[in-house]
Amino acid sequence: MVEFKFKNGFLKVLVINFIACLSVYSQNNTTLVTINKTEDAPVISKHIYGHFAEHLGRCIYDGFFVGDTSKIANTNGVRNDIVEALKKLQIPNLRWPGGCFADTYHWKDGVGPLDQRPTIVNTWWGGVTEDNSFGTHDFLNMCELLETEPYLSGNVGSGTVQELADWVQYTNFGGKSPMSDLRKENGRKEPWKVKYWGIGNEAWGCGGNMTADYYANEYRKYATFISDWENTGRIVRIASGASSNDYNWTETLMKNIPINMLGGLALHHYSVIDWNKKGDAVSFTEEQYFKTMTEALKMEELVTQHAAIMDTYDPNKKVDLVVDEWGGWYEVEKGTNPGFLYQQNTMRDAVLAGATLNIFNNHADRVRMANLAQCVNVLQAVILTKEAKMILTPTYHIMEMYKVHQDAKLLPIAFESPLYTFNNESLPAISVSASKDNNGLVHVSMVNVDSKKENKIEIDLNELAVKNITAKVLTSKTLQDHNSFDNPTKIQPTNYKGFEVKKGKLTVTIPPFSIVMIEGK
Ligand code: AHR
Repeated sequence: MVEFKFKNGFLKVLVINFIACLSVYSQNNTTLVTINKTEDAPVISKHIYGHFAEHLGRCIYDGFFVGDTSKIANTNGVRNDIVEALKKLQIPNLRWPGGCFADTYHWKDGVGPLDQRPTIVNTWWGGVTEDNSFGTHDFLNMCELLETEPYLSGNVGSGTVQELADWVQYTNFGGKSPMSDLRKENGRKEPWKVKYWGIGNEAWGCGGNMTADYYANEYRKYATFISDWENTGRIVRIASGASSNDYNWTETLMKNIPINMLGGLALHHYSVIDWNKKGDAVSFTEEQYFKTMTEALKMEELVTQHAAIMDTYDPNKKVDLVVDEWGGWYEVEKGTNPGFLYQQNTMRDAVLAGATLNIFNNHADRVRMANLAQCVNVLQAVILTKEAKMILTPTYHIMEMYKVHQDAKLLPIAFESPLYTFNNESLPAISVSASKDNNGLVHVSMVNVDSKKENKIEIDLNELAVKNITAKVLTSKTLQDHNSFDNPTKIQPTNYKGFEVKKGKLTVTIPPFSIVMIEGK
């Protein structure tokens, strides 16, 4: 749990999940760090670094999927350059087909001969015609190419229990059954064995406008029929979770769903300034930056509070908190379809991503999965495409820098951060998380949220238990800087020399709105 308290002009951030932990405090404008070697710290699940691909705008069609007759190099219609870039990130899981789209999606429309697949209207996203040419086989085979775990979102809003149970049988059953026979007829002999299943999406909104009580019952029914009694298939059933601070939703679900039926409970939180005036993705003011970061850093309070409620009903922390939609959301790029949610991605998004991932890492005892929204060409994308061109966004580079935390052991932290103040309002300026991997490499990711002032962090090398330090930084001249199709490598991580080692202490300077990753051996 993390508590924020104002004291002597500093925001005190106490991480008290663990009795002895890495503590950070401020002195002479330097935030001091001490690390305690604790044995019972959790492992940071690699699934925190998950992604999300919805049938929305140009995420699937004209994003991932260009079709096998395209001039763009592809494998069964999926762009090779995207596959290569995502494999470099070691993406651990990919959520599909929505989002809101999931509760309108009937999976049987997307299997079998192409010319027999019905066309539907994508009512949530631009009212465009969906020809179902990208379906279950395409997605699950694409996950194999990406070497990632699929996370399928089931249709509860407009589907049936039978339909979802059939989907599970179609994808997962190896023996003889109506659905496995159909799968084989459609060209796939072996089941894919999909582990992660979402039972609806945003059931409180686009997933059916249900009350928490009503949804809890629906969940129990669906969860019953998509596995056997003992859940021998080890399916992880994930309940549609709260929107931001709807704690009642979490409480009601935790109270009413037996723990053994619940693998994960979702949470959605977007960093939006104002839903009616979201602001431009690139031409934003410092005030707008400050507001975005205020919303992003709220994630700390959200995961703390939702986890505390979960602890009441599940003290042994069996149920995962799954933040399966998070990220920045701005006005769509001018001239693009408003229903397609295409936006550019700047250093603001890099800071947002770095700070959010630090929060997830520090709550690894309960947050065991998360999905950035969304992967390609939608919202806070890691990849943007334009015909044959592709760019990697600043957020991509954060995911690449942070992949070292995947499945590494958390080094828990507590710290007192200096403030980033704007218009008499303040935020913690520094965000940190640390881990040690199986090879004994220690990584500390540091974000300076402050848009103007550099900040320094000091760490005791004995406590880090390392001798040699290297570092990388993601930084740029202005917060609005971004990669474009004309200048695709303007922002990329570089080796960093802005640190010094003296008398057993490591001092790192973090430039304004920058992210530094330290590696210690
Ligand atoms: O990510 C875009 C949309 O945001 C998703 O479809 C929905 O779940 C959320 O409201």
